[in-house]
Amino acid sequence: MLITPRQDKLNKIIILNPKGGCGKSTLATNLAARYAQDGPIPALMDFDPQGSTIAWLNRRSQERPQIHGIAAFKKSMQATRSWQLRVPSDTVNVLVDSPASVSHDDLRELTRDATSILVPVLPSSMDIHAASRCIADLLLVAKIDRRDRKLAVVANRTRKNTKSFAKLMRFLDSLGIPIIAVLRDSQNFVYAAEKGLGLCEMQPSRVKQDVEQIEKIVEWLEAWPQRRRASTSAAAVKRQPLAPSSILRRPQFGSA
Ligand SMILES: Nc1ncnc2c1ncn2[C@@H]1O[C@H](COP(=O)(O)OP(=O)(O)O)[C@@H](O)[C@H]1O
Ligand SMILES: [Mg+2]
Repeated sequence: MLITPRQDKLNKIIILNPKGGCGKSTLATNLAARYAQDGPIPALMDFDPQGSTIAWLNRRSQERPQIHGIAAFKKSMQATRSWQLRVPSDTVNVLVDSPASVSHDDLRELTRDATSILVPVLPSSMDIHAASRCIADLLLVAKIDRRDRKLAVVANRTRKNTKSFAKLMRFLDSLGIPIIAVLRDSQNFVYAAEKGLGLCEMQPSRVKQDVEQIEKIVEWLEAWPQRRRASTSAAAVKRQPLAPSSILRRPQFGSA
């Protein structure tokens, strides 16, 4: 069971998409480094048995702003599960990196009290298909209500002005789920991953464009209390169930 800490004050950000290589760990590590800059110490939970987020943290210099790593994929024999998964008492932001395959039960568990759910998506037909299934599961299995505005997509490794990018944007637009940032395909991400860095910690002139997009994500994430308030007051008005059919519609793959 993929259990995450339950505390009201926590800003729990789940990064999810069963498709390997779409950029989950890249997003988790870059956001953790960004939150670490301002403090308090963020927590980075790695549920992926590949452990690439924790490996990134192990490569990170001790001189860099601290991040509390939790190797949630490991089952500890000595500690209870809740002890193993505890976050430091003053931590506010928790980044949760998820594995490639997540059962329906785990999906519900992971997202239950998430403040935000980020789905990174790559611009290829296969990835668009995988993302549409992932988003359908979030809406239909985990019962994420779009009106709660917890769910957003990050388009990753994009090359603007390509057909596949245009197709990805059309598809995401058709779902009515916000695309909060567009990350380009850049060696900066690969370099940062190797060095245990976040892009925000690299030479600003080199990463300006990428950091701008990460800032857009942070801005959206930081607005979670307002999003929550807005959805709570909306709940006072009688909720009409949204027809899930649009999400289940197959993405259109006509030639772009
Ligand atoms: N925007 C990007 N530009 C270039 N390389 C990227 C980008 N995003 C991710 N990568 C690289 O793609 C690979 C897979 O990304 P990763 O974050 O590990 O995906 P996931 O965690 O979803 O499996 C990694 O080598 C990573 O450095
Ligand atoms: Mg990963």
